[in-house]
Formats: sequence, C-alpha cells, structure tokens
Amino acid sequence: MDGLNTSITGRAIANGLLSIEAVNIRDFAVNKHNRVDDYTYGGGAGMLMQAEPVYLAYKSVEEQCKVKPRVIYLSPQGKTFSQNMAEEFAKEEELVFLCGHYEGIDERVLEEIVTDYVSIGDYVLTGGELPAMVMIDAVSRLVPGVLHNNVSAEFETFQDNLLEYPQYTRPEEWRGKKVPEILLSGHHANIEKWRREQSIMRTAKARPDLLEKAELTEKEKKILANYEDLW
Ligand code: ADE
Repeated sequence: MDGLNTSITGRAIANGLLSIEAVNIRDFAVNKHNRVDDYTYGGGAGMLMQAEPVYLAYKSVEEQCKVKPRVIYLSPQGKTFSQNMAEEFAKEEELVFLCGHYEGIDERVLEEIVTDYVSIGDYVLTGGELPAMVMIDAVSRLVPGVLHNNVSAEFETFQDNLLEYPQYTRPEEWRGKKVPEILLSGHHANIEKWRREQSIMRTAKARPDLLEKAELTEKEKKILANYEDLW
C-alpha cells in the first residue's frame, strides 16, 4: 500500500485520521511451500486461490475489528464503484478489502465472508490491489479532516451528477489564450450561472448518461436543447 503513504492520504495516516494495514494471504498458506493457489475443479486455464488461507487471513483481521467489518471483494464481476458507494463506505469505522490474484478465489470462501462485490471499471487487472488503493483513496478523502476544506469534497464532480466547470488561475493570458471575460467581472451571480452552464454542457458532451440523473431546471433544459441543436 506504498502509494497511499504519500500526499493527502499520507498526511492523514501520519495525523492518525486513517490507518491502513496490509495482510499477506500467503502467510496463511496451509502447505509447506507457502502456496495459496491450485488448479480449478472441472478444468480450464489458470489457478485459483484456495478457500482456507483466505479464510484464515480474514479471521486474523476480523479478530482485530471492534464489530464485524464489511468485506469488499475487488473483482470485475462486482458492482461498478461510484461516488455514492464511496460515501457509503466512508461512514464505516473499518473496512476490509479482499484482493484476489490468479483467476480468482474459491467461491465457497467468498460466500462465507464477502459483503460487497465491487469493480472499478470494465477492464481486467492482474489483481485487486490497485482497485483497493483506488477505493481507499476515494473513501479517505471523504473522512472528516482528511481534506482541509470539506467544501471541496462536497461540491466537486459527481456530487450533483454534473462534471466540473473549467477553471483558470494566473496569468490572465497564457500563450495567447485568455481567461473567459466573465470570470474577471467580479459579478458573482453571473459567474455562478456561467459555471453551472459550463458544467451542464460538459456533462452533455462527455457523459450524457450522468446528465439523465442530474436535476436541471426547466430553463436549463431549454438552454441545453438549444445547444444540442447546434452540435
Ligand atoms: N480485479 C481485476 N480487475 C478488476 C477490476 N476492474 N475491478 C476490481 N477488481 C479487479
């Protein structure tokens, strides 16, 4: 979990807001070669992780938990991870991420211990560690105190099913490209209106699937319909 020791999550760990512990399932191997994988019944390519080492590793973690923890199994077969899920997981005191390798894990132990099956997207990775780190990062930033300004955690992309509007900082002109005039006007109501429109347009272009879930006013729907005619 090296990557999480840097930057914002690193600071949160140092400040005691988060604690992350990695458990190696191989340490719970039930044979003398420390192997935790075996051939699949019924044949087919690839190896599978055996039930017992996974179960023993989980039990060693469960023992340290105050209450029975949610156990998230990272797998392309799971429900696609989302900001809503991150918010739900952020409410938990403790979470266990079960990372598979090889072709997966014996179904029986999954039935026994897993509470949530989660995928980070429709592509196949070699193991669950990177997906677990992605989820830990997304959940961590929602833990109070991890980000210094809680406003940004609340209002960013996806909170309202809209993508973020474009943003600019100094200089006012960069290689011939100017900051949109309205942002220099100091007229806050107009700026807010412009930003909201930009968010809606961006979402319509890049993620029309999200826009269906966004709450738009009748006026905004009309503006959007007019723009869509121009595309
Ligand atoms: N393990 C392998 N691929 C994965 C994915 N896309 N999401 C979660 N876990 C995985």
